[in-house]
Amino acid sequence: MDELCLLPWPRRLLRSAGSCSLERGWRASASAELSGDVAIRSLLNELQEMSPGRSPSQVPMSIVSQGAPGHCRLCITPQRIQLEYGDRYGLHHAKRILQQLLDHARDGQLPCLDIEDWPAWSWRGLHLDVSRHFFPAKVVCEVLDLMAYHGLNVFHWHLCDDQGWRLEIPDLPRLHEVAAWRDTDGSRYGGWYTEDDVRQVVTHAQQVGIAVVPEIELPGHCRAALAAYPRLCCSRTPGPVPGDWGVFEDVYCAGSDEVFRFLEQVFAHVLKLFPGPWVHIGGDEVPRTRWEKCPRCQRRMRDEGLRDTDQLQAWFVARAAQMLQRAGKRVIGWDEVLDGGLDSSVAVMSWRGEQGGLAAAQAGHKVVMSPGSHCYFDHAQAESGEPPAFPAVLPLERVFQFAPLPEGLEEVYHANVLGGQANCWTERITTREHLHYMLLPRLCAIAEALWWPTEGRPDYADFLQRLAAHSTVLDRYGFKGRSLR
Ligand code: ACM
Ligand code: ZN
Repeated sequence: MDELCLLPWPRRLLRSAGSCSLERGWRASASAELSGDVAIRSLLNELQEMSPGRSPSQVPMSIVSQGAPGHCRLCITPQRIQLEYGDRYGLHHAKRILQQLLDHARDGQLPCLDIEDWPAWSWRGLHLDVSRHFFPAKVVCEVLDLMAYHGLNVFHWHLCDDQGWRLEIPDLPRLHEVAAWRDTDGSRYGGWYTEDDVRQVVTHAQQVGIAVVPEIELPGHCRAALAAYPRLCCSRTPGPVPGDWGVFEDVYCAGSDEVFRFLEQVFAHVLKLFPGPWVHIGGDEVPRTRWEKCPRCQRRMRDEGLRDTDQLQAWFVARAAQMLQRAGKRVIGWDEVLDGGLDSSVAVMSWRGEQGGLAAAQAGHKVVMSPGSHCYFDHAQAESGEPPAFPAVLPLERVFQFAPLPEGLEEVYHANVLGGQANCWTERITTREHLHYMLLPRLCAIAEALWWPTEGRPDYADFLQRLAAHSTVLDRYGFKGRSLR
């Protein structure tokens, strides 16, 4: 059997001769002690659902709680299947491997093997911009399924930006009435997530082992919010929600206490809806032009003893971060949060190359690497013949070569690097089909790059060989990416 095309490829795999026939399915069971656990009971049901056959004489599959956190082991012999897991993360890995084996099984046979698996990086992320174009909860849940199938475990949900605010906040109704809509070429475009939509996504993410990181972008990229609540910007006349792309000069007024009351209300809702440990607060691309001229911002700088508007940016970010940290959240921002000096309690997502990540890790920040050179899935996949994309090219092979550790980072700081992430900005991505196309097959490549340390990773030819068969399975699931030929 050469159809073993697990992706990501497991860290340890031993093949043995023979196969396990699943004609009659399997019978999953766990010790009485484990079966008392709700998660295990639901796993047993799920595994029973996955079982290809249902006849009385079935292959016994035993579930055993054993091994290090995040680890799993799957042992298949002709007579039996054993699934070991170190914790609930390990359980998700084992389930995924089993699912992939089933998806590739021929004639009801699983290959005999012994797999031990665990990821190299704890943050294996995908970001999705739902502001530039809106994707309903159902489409987001499909993306979560796609992530889970590849062992990705962090969904960074970019919920607001200049061109649209997508999170309904009941106490701030103008966010969904005004900020969720824009006029483009004479037509109205928009959408937003209700509380139920968010719960659907968060619940689904939990079920498939993914943490949701909501992003509330500040102090810039907030024209949509300003259109709804103009008093939050320096000029108080920011204009409507823009229908074009770029970096806009109107940002939250750093001198206005109303801004922080607004953020309190937004964060209160975020805390209610998102149980995960992390919140992203943006921080990128903040022009200082309005702050330079605004009397309230200038007064703030005097009152707080801030030398320049870089320090004002750091002060703003720190104040917002503290609001969330006091509520027990961990906070992350794009690498510009380093401008003006910021204490290391805020983690850094390095997108402008590796430099921000390198400096941040050396200064004691936790770091997630998502440099444009390897991780920007809004870029085209080839020089020509591609659907609309940001005018740059990110080919599959470069994604596969992604190594989260910044070049030159001293070993003592390696533990500060949590992992990496692909970013999918959607200025030019308007449909579910286009979104799948931009994600695939690059998502498969980054999944493997984030599963393995750089050393010992399978080579690109090996990856490509597995990817061919893997893509036919994705196709069956309804995910159509760029063709490999
Ligand atoms: C970014 O791509 N502006 C974070
Ligand atoms: Zn101001």
